[in-house]
Amino acid sequence: MLELYDISKRYKDKLALADVSLTLHNGVYGLLGPNGAGKSTLMNIITGNLRPTGGRVLWNGTEIGTLGAEYRAVLGFAPQQQGMYDAFTGRRFLSYMATLKGIRSREQPGEIERVLRYVNMTENAGRLIGAYSGGMKQRLLIAQAILGDPKLIVLDEPTAGLDPKERVRIRERIAQLSEGRIILVSTHVVSDIEAIADEIILLKSGEIIDRGSVEELCDIHGAASLEDVYMRLFGEEGDDGPSCAV
Ligand SMILES: Nc1ncnc2c1ncn2[C@@H]1O[C@H](COP(=O)(O)OP(=O)(O)OP(=O)(O)O)[C@@H](O)[C@H]1O
Ligand SMILES: [Mg+2]
Repeated sequence: MLELYDISKRYKDKLALADVSLTLHNGVYGLLGPNGAGKSTLMNIITGNLRPTGGRVLWNGTEIGTLGAEYRAVLGFAPQQQGMYDAFTGRRFLSYMATLKGIRSREQPGEIERVLRYVNMTENAGRLIGAYSGGMKQRLLIAQAILGDPKLIVLDEPTAGLDPKERVRIRERIAQLSEGRIILVSTHVVSDIEAIADEIILLKSGEIIDRGSVEELCDIHGAASLEDVYMRLFGEEGDDGPSCAV
């Protein structure tokens, strides 16, 4: 169980998150909001990569700051942008990440081949990352996030830059992973999560303005679809629309 209490984050004079409180149990959660809503900031705080200005994050009742390596072992994170290791092959990069996660070297080869198959990257694993397309880099980033079977998987816009076929594929893969773990997926593309998320968390200007299943949100807002909910809530905000951004 992941619990957030009154999380706030201030970047100089910009309040990026304001008193976000949230409890997540096993399941898939879609973090939906326009550009600048605070999705990445929230994910970086949840994963311990960024300190909140205020508030607490607890994993199974303990503050993540005091868990250290124990937390890293249960956590898989694909950040939105990552300076990747262009001179590494995909397989070498995964081996490096597996070591950072504390996966034993004896278990690494099998685990690395498993995650490569998962994102359909086995054939490209021996090539240098510098020669990958954007979508291949994105898939490798997802692969490292699921190394070691983490109980908390945080994916920041995992389908950005993927072609429609891979987008559907990754979406299905995420849904299959959901048993017995928490998966938090951010996006501003409604169709990426509406079919797979047990719950949608709507973030606007650093605040959670609503949360619920797709049906609940449609009911509350008298909307025909989640896309419709999104347009009503965020139509005026953000610098790109919710759909057609394939
Ligand atoms: N390092 C930083 N310094 C100053 N302001 C920042 C910093 N990082 C983010 N912000 C600001 O905080 C707010 C939230 O940014 P964040 O990246 O969390 O949004 P997001 O929802 O992930 O957006 P996107 O959909 O574009 O990825 C924005 O107004 C952004 O400009
Ligand atoms: Mg972001």
